[in-house]
Amino acid sequence: MEKIKINRRSAIKTLGIASIALAMPKDAIVKNLNKESASDVRAEKVKVGIVGTGGRGTSLVSNLLGIDSVEIVALCDLDQKKADNAAALCEKAGRKKPAVYYGDGNTYKEMLDKAKPDAVLIATYWDSHTAIALDAMNKGIYPGIEVPASLTVEDAWKLVETSEKTGIPCMMLENWSFRQDNLAALNMKRLGLFGDIVHCHCAHSHDCIDHWFFDSQTGQQKWPAEYLLKYNRDQYPTHSVGPIISWMDINRGDIFTEIYSTVSASKGINAYFKRKFGDDHPNSKINWKQGDIVTSTLKTKSGKTLVINYDMQLPRPYSNRWLLQGTKGVYDEEKNSIYLVEQSPAYHQWEAWKPYEEKYNHKWWKSDYSSQSHGGTDFVMLSAFIEAVSKKDPTPIDVYDSAVMTAIVELSGLSIEKNMPVPFPDFTKGKWQTNKPYFALDM
Ligand SMILES: NC(=O)c1ccc[n+]([C@@H]2O[C@H](COP(=O)([O-])OP(=O)(O)OC[C@H]3O[C@@H](n4cnc5c(N)ncnc54)[C@H](O)[C@@H]3O)[C@@H](O)[C@H]2O)c1
Repeated sequence: MEKIKINRRSAIKTLGIASIALAMPKDAIVKNLNKESASDVRAEKVKVGIVGTGGRGTSLVSNLLGIDSVEIVALCDLDQKKADNAAALCEKAGRKKPAVYYGDGNTYKEMLDKAKPDAVLIATYWDSHTAIALDAMNKGIYPGIEVPASLTVEDAWKLVETSEKTGIPCMMLENWSFRQDNLAALNMKRLGLFGDIVHCHCAHSHDCIDHWFFDSQTGQQKWPAEYLLKYNRDQYPTHSVGPIISWMDINRGDIFTEIYSTVSASKGINAYFKRKFGDDHPNSKINWKQGDIVTSTLKTKSGKTLVINYDMQLPRPYSNRWLLQGTKGVYDEEKNSIYLVEQSPAYHQWEAWKPYEEKYNHKWWKSDYSSQSHGGTDFVMLSAFIEAVSKKDPTPIDVYDSAVMTAIVELSGLSIEKNMPVPFPDFTKGKWQTNKPYFALDM
């Protein structure tokens, strides 16, 4: 894979992310930051530690190695081999070997204390994300948390309150918010091309049964499968809802008020095991708690609606089914099409999306990053995150948006259990009414 050479200054130029900070409102979090020491470009590299060097953590390491302004100073995993493998990647790329920490679920604390990184990326199992992020913020370290940031609303509140108390920004690393197509759609929405936004739809349709939840060869459960036994809810809403938060101006002029979730029967997991391993395999017979398709409807204060589907255990090609619909037109990601009233050439006929994506391309996508993971989206996201850390500025996704995306996990389960809508918390405590749009403003 060709390495993208990009230092801090060239990142600014290439990705156009320097003005994120200028465009951002200096809200409660920013005011606590030590702006004096951050007022200018730092000469030294941004020191990054990574906790969890499994599949995702290693991919984050590879992406960070493409950013010259980053020094990976420390890596931590429960399993020494995994941390060593990630350290070897750094050496192979001609970088300094990071300090390696391994042991138990608390060893990361030693890493944070000794390596003193400026930022820590958290790519561990879901149940440790919040605790590590809280410790990081309390030590003055920026957390970049893999998805979802929390499993409970209570933990999402802890992230918000700790970020406010410490003044340390906290970002969930929701990479799909940074996708080229989604950012172009956001640019178009901000230019008013869709009119008033009325409705959105999204899904995480990603068959993960045969590789992520279970080992593809043996059928053995991996750690995420435990959640399929314990819970019945949208286990993974953030990739689908990520771009929608900004399309719908959530936390910036509007807010989710309630969520109502319903779920289908659970048939996909048993069917997969019967097909692949036979009727006698234990997983063919277990009553998995998690239904196959969760459908959540969310309402906003100003009357918009959103439908989110969880769909990770039936055989199907990958899709996010993003749809953005307003009074002047509609963008449909799955159809790769758009229709704009009084602009599209044929009445009520779809036209191709690609020319619009090119015309309204976001500045962060001025170069071709397609050799990087997830088509370059991870690189664009990490570059923007590192830029914020470097300047001690707010992160491109703030703690409030991170909390909203993540709260859907628990709230969808509650709604399914009660078979009724449940209220959505206001993590901004009323500031949504005056907060201005914020994410990716540098069009
Ligand atoms: N954004 C994306 O596109 C994307 C893609 C895949 C996974 N993820 C997220 O990344 C996270 C990790 O998923 P994965 O697929 O890499 O899982 P994985 O099992 O491959 O890796 C997790 C690693 O974390 C380590 N770990 C767990 N708890 C730890 C602790 N307290 N201290 C140190 N190490 C610890 C484990 O030993 C393991 O090596 C999950 O939150 C997942 O949702 C995100």
